[in-house]
Amino acid sequence: LRVFVPYETTALSLGADDVATLIQREAEARGLDIELVRNGSRGLFFLEPLVEVETGSGRYAFGPVEPADVASLFEAGLELGAAGHPLALGPTEEIPWLKRQQRVTFARIGVTDPVSVEDYRDHGGFAGLEKAVTCTRQQLVDMVKASGLRGRGGAAFPTGIKWQTVLDAQGKQKYIVCNADEGDSGTFADRLVMESDPYMLIEGMVIAGLAVGATQGYIYLREEYPLADELLALAIERARAAGYLGDNILGSGQRFELEVRLGAGAYICGEETSLLESLEGKRGLVRAKPPLPAIEGLFGMPTVVNNVLSLAAVPSILSEGPEHYASFGIDRSKGTLPFQLAGNLTRGGLVELAFGHTLRELIEDFGGGTASGRPVRAVQVGGPLGAYLSPEQFDTLLDYEAFSAIGAVLGHGGVVVFDDSVDMAEQARFSMAFCVEESCGKCTPCRIGAVRGVEVIDRIMQGENRDANLALLDDLCDTMMQGSLCAMGGMTPFPVKSAMTLFPEDFHRQGGED
Ligand code: NAI
Ligand code: SF4
Repeated sequence: LRVFVPYETTALSLGADDVATLIQREAEARGLDIELVRNGSRGLFFLEPLVEVETGSGRYAFGPVEPADVASLFEAGLELGAAGHPLALGPTEEIPWLKRQQRVTFARIGVTDPVSVEDYRDHGGFAGLEKAVTCTRQQLVDMVKASGLRGRGGAAFPTGIKWQTVLDAQGKQKYIVCNADEGDSGTFADRLVMESDPYMLIEGMVIAGLAVGATQGYIYLREEYPLADELLALAIERARAAGYLGDNILGSGQRFELEVRLGAGAYICGEETSLLESLEGKRGLVRAKPPLPAIEGLFGMPTVVNNVLSLAAVPSILSEGPEHYASFGIDRSKGTLPFQLAGNLTRGGLVELAFGHTLRELIEDFGGGTASGRPVRAVQVGGPLGAYLSPEQFDTLLDYEAFSAIGAVLGHGGVVVFDDSVDMAEQARFSMAFCVEESCGKCTPCRIGAVRGVEVIDRIMQGENRDANLALLDDLCDTMMQGSLCAMGGMTPFPVKSAMTLFPEDFHRQGGED
């Protein structure tokens, strides 16, 4: 009997290890022969720890399982799906929250043992790389172009065009750099890939290397993800031993090496040029563009810098064909985006959907409304630099251009929900304060502007010269947007301005003249 208990940060933080130990102990006590598999998480965080058993008719799920529930699960006949147990969820794939999703990149997540090469292969893994070694570089780049994949880190630049630039650039060494410095509030999709399906990222990076002629890759991983570091190290070692990395990939004579480098906790090191500075061993200071990293990147050489999710999408684009990927989504937003539901929600977790659904579906159908039971008042999409949206905007299509048209961003797919107890002036102040804390300090609009922004909001909140200070804040936001060197200072005004526009009453709460 195979029993699955996730070995993944969220599940572990909710007691998955204790549950696993107790399942093993209970099975031994009952003379039941079980194989305990530590799989990844399916991303249904509201049900973690999610325990599964493999029965004759597929996998059955239970959750959220606490140590105290283990004995009763065995009593109820765990091996047969324990149908009558209050935590029984039935066949895993039939759980509505999972069934309604369109899992393409995350199809294997939580199904397999993350560090088993055999399990990965048995579930379609490395089929993309096997195809890649038979293709020319240009064919590989063309396939990524044809898929319509756009950078999933947030900026949505076409991945195939970026790869073409690096392929065409001259340089004695080229690099693939994976941006795994996932710093956006409420996001965890990169972590889930690295902890629950690390070979998918490794495979995507090797394919990228073959496509542009790069022989060295680096995963720039935030140090706050120690489990991802542990699992990636093991997966890289095993992938190398199995011939998917190293000097002679799948006997093709082609070479690609991969290393993980840890960041030191700076949000700005998620910006690609400061990331490269940090990788080179320097302070994470933003570089002016041009030159683009694709032309002069790591150590001055042509470099592909892609987010985890962009690279993770590549293996299935090759194995299933670019047309398959492009058949999801709408207009210029092709494929799927793994949305990450967080904040004040009943059901948080990962929802992979094709572009073209609505924010309302995410918040109401998947998220189940607020955990507090109070009405939703605001949602921040796209991390701390993303605009706030109000419920009147919830029917906006999840599509890069549709979001841009309302002054918002989809970014990396983070969705953080607030109920009606939120003070949006406080939130605007937090955005400016965040920028003060995380600014690299290179340019004046951001370094000084954010400090002044906090001061002006404080004055507004105290009711001091309110109209004049509101106008000043608006002006300051415009200066930051137009004059900052990178998205940190350039986008901090998004949440500030949207809070002022959509929730003006929150800026008029305290006494003082209006
Ligand atoms: P950008 O628009 O300047 O560049 C996007 C990418 O395309 C870069 O890699 C750039 O080098 C590349 N590029 C642009 N023109 C090119 C060309 N002609 N040929 C080849 N490559 C080209 O955006 P940036 O500053 O890199 O990213 C900003 C975004 O980052 C924001 O929209 C925000 O959503 C996102 N973000 C994501 C975070 C996360 O944790 N994932 C955190 C903070 C921001
Ligand atoms: Fe540095 Fe801020 Fe300027 Fe970006 S906008 S370069 S983070 S000071």
